[in-house]
Amino acid sequence: MDYSYSTKLLGTSEEELRYAAGLLARGEIVGMPTETVYGLAADAENPRAVERIFAAKGRPQDNPLIVHIANIAQLEEYAHSIPAIAYRLAEKFWPGPLTMVLPKKEKIPDITSAGLNTVGIRMPCHKAAKSLIRYSGKALAAPSANLSGSPSPTEAAHVMADMDGRIPAVVDGGSCPVGVESTVISFEGDAVRILRPGFVSSEELSEWAEVIHDKHITEAAAEGEKVLSPGMKYKHYSPKANVVIVDGSEEQYLDYVNHQVVDGACAMLFGSEADRCMIPHIAYGDTSEEQAAKLFAVLRKLDDIGAEQVYARMPSTEGVGLAVYNRLLRAAGFEIIKP
Ligand code: TXA
Ligand code: MG
Repeated sequence: MDYSYSTKLLGTSEEELRYAAGLLARGEIVGMPTETVYGLAADAENPRAVERIFAAKGRPQDNPLIVHIANIAQLEEYAHSIPAIAYRLAEKFWPGPLTMVLPKKEKIPDITSAGLNTVGIRMPCHKAAKSLIRYSGKALAAPSANLSGSPSPTEAAHVMADMDGRIPAVVDGGSCPVGVESTVISFEGDAVRILRPGFVSSEELSEWAEVIHDKHITEAAAEGEKVLSPGMKYKHYSPKANVVIVDGSEEQYLDYVNHQVVDGACAMLFGSEADRCMIPHIAYGDTSEEQAAKLFAVLRKLDDIGAEQVYARMPSTEGVGLAVYNRLLRAAGFEIIKP
């Protein structure tokens, strides 16, 4: 592949969005802001455009893409056998950070769904993303816009850091407010199975349906084990540093990290305990919402400051906290210390 683009950074004026939509309509790929993370968008129905996404990211071919739509009619264009509960959830949570895995129609090419007979569909609520879908006249397949394995991008600068020269343009829509990727669910009878936790929490979903937690939310897949969401088997979200999660009270955490006085050690803590931390540290927030919003930027920052060994404080697993924990576990290669 010839990575010879001079990547344009576009704003969100109508003119710039129409320009980006024109690229998409012609089969090019574009960095797109969403409320969760930046996506790398392409016409979901165009196999050659989608192929460009896999090449630019270095993404394994067996990992399916999420298709982004702008109205309910598009849901029925791409999926069939849609259960009543899916419509109820769409009414409640769309547009927003919820992806539903459903049986796919023929219009979705095999490369988009990585050969599966299902497709993940979501309707984003970010204004620029909605405009790109409408102006291009296409449903947009979009994975997170990072190089495969790296932390997801939550700012246009992160997309540029990974994709400069590999794609024609990035639309800069500012920082992504949610900060972690959408909740991915599938349907089992009347129940929903959470394949990947996100901002739409297990607690919220359980007001509408019985909720099953897929075991790979918190457990590593064994070598060769079949997983329902292919993305869950890869090492992910990793900075160059070795990350471990330290699971204990504030006192235990501080006592542990304050003994790690070696070059390259860095504490990744909530913030309120920063005054009493004696080693270099970065805060990722005191509430789960703040932690979600800052997580990926902090993981990237750790590389910028040359951290080699990171001690991350164990987050709460309630609400969006479960998504934070799920991403941090993968960044840490599932390594947890209990001091
Ligand atoms: O918030 C998000 O979902 C962002 C923004 C850009 O919309 N997108 C995103 O895409 O996170 P990606 O490709 O990085 O992650 C998609 C996840 C992967 O873990 C993938 O395996 C899973 O969703 N997935 C997609 N289609 C699926 C399907 N048909 N069955 C099971 N899992 C699926
Ligand atoms: Mg991703």
